[in-house]
Amino acid sequence: MNKFPENFFWGGATAANQLEGGWDANGKGVSTADCCTQGSLNQPRLVTFKTKEGEIRAEEMFHFDAPEGAEFGCFDNYVYPTHRAVDFFTHYKEDIALFAEMGFKMFRFSINWTRIFPLGDEILPNEKGLQFYDDVLDELAKYNIEPLVTLSHFETPVGLVNKWGAWKDQRTIECFERYVATVGERYKGKINYWLTFNELNGIESGPWGAAGLPMTDKQIIANAAKNQLVASAKAVQLLHEIDPDNKIGNMTAFGVGYPNTSNPKDVFKTWQKYNESYWCGDVQVRGYYPSFKLKEYKREGIDLFLTNEEQETLKNGTVDFITFSYYMTNNVSSDPQVIEDSAGNFMGGVKNPYLKASEWGWQIDPIGLRIALNYMYDRYQLPIMVVENGLGARDKLEDNGTCHDSYRIDYLKEHICEMSKAIEEDGVELLGYTAWGCIDIVSASTGEMDKRYGFIYVNYQDNGLGKGERYRKDSFNWYKKVIETNGEVLG
Ligand code: BG6
Repeated sequence: MNKFPENFFWGGATAANQLEGGWDANGKGVSTADCCTQGSLNQPRLVTFKTKEGEIRAEEMFHFDAPEGAEFGCFDNYVYPTHRAVDFFTHYKEDIALFAEMGFKMFRFSINWTRIFPLGDEILPNEKGLQFYDDVLDELAKYNIEPLVTLSHFETPVGLVNKWGAWKDQRTIECFERYVATVGERYKGKINYWLTFNELNGIESGPWGAAGLPMTDKQIIANAAKNQLVASAKAVQLLHEIDPDNKIGNMTAFGVGYPNTSNPKDVFKTWQKYNESYWCGDVQVRGYYPSFKLKEYKREGIDLFLTNEEQETLKNGTVDFITFSYYMTNNVSSDPQVIEDSAGNFMGGVKNPYLKASEWGWQIDPIGLRIALNYMYDRYQLPIMVVENGLGARDKLEDNGTCHDSYRIDYLKEHICEMSKAIEEDGVELLGYTAWGCIDIVSASTGEMDKRYGFIYVNYQDNGLGKGERYRKDSFNWYKKVIETNGEVLG
């Protein structure tokens, strides 16, 4: 018997660039995600740009150093999956009705900054962009679905990248503040739960996605991360001022790791690995940098240029609740001979012989979620939401429109079960659970449709076929029952 609190937020999660499409509709500008090409399990996603000399080039999304003066954008002969994504832009009513049919209490989505400020640095917002989210919010309100809104989910305006290097430059903080003030005022009373940046701690392994940085320079990444942390703190303050009922959370990519052996060196390395998950949350919850991160910067010769004013801002902009994504775990080894052959959203690692993995190499570990919940709760003592969790898999749409995804049901069932233990047996204050990609969307790391997470199958294929029809998978009815019984019946 599972016990979830009354009013538990069961729901699903998405991000604008992976969901909406309509990439240039109604005056929307180009975001960093819009310049990323379609990839696959074996083919990396690329970021496209034009060099000063006029040459069109593309580099691997996760780690690249673009030449000085590169202009980022979209060019002929490349396929950009976010441009259509799954066309929520025109299907939002139908999709929200399906979420309501499953009984969603909460829907996590992000506002695409470039719908509101197309280049990022305008003074006045784009009214049509604002109207789109009004429509979405009204539709959610119709079904009493609580919105959980991410302000920035891998969607920095390319205008700011080309102008001054996006988050590398402090002027981006001001632009972000204007954007937050605009959406905060406009949707006052309609949105009560906000997240500032998605997986801010991913900036070191994915600087382009997280902050529009086309480079691997650690000094620049550290300063861009500081700018985002300051912007996050300012957003918290602003949203509290606009509406004291606003609750603002942070969002961390949480990577649980196990020592590969009981060798203390492996145990110590594992502790260090955890700090990759903690350092941003530490700043956002406590209001100051953790000592281990400051020492790390010092060792690496990085200067944070942290002013008194910035320290004050961080102190005054701490979050009300914490959230994280959880997909997999990896082992950690201090032995350079041990091969890191296991994958993950940001953090790879060593394979664990006790765990099975998805086709994309992400190891499936439900107990790891209970561990993550306990670690986070012990450290911060704030209410938590798990805002991403799920299984990316290749689904088969049958001729009669059914899709038998028992593997997804198994994955979710086991993770939900561990969540309930964290609540019941360990006392973790868990507010909600939004399953990732509740409707099939474009994968963030590989930019493909083939890696699906949804309860709803969307008939768009990577080869260009499909008209975007929506179908209920087996997991749709299963999740409906889970919500109906508040997690008591996991089937
Ligand atoms: C998280 C991101 O890291 O992982 C999402 O916040 C992403 O945007 C999710 O979609 C799953 O990753 P992927 O690559 O399977 O889509």
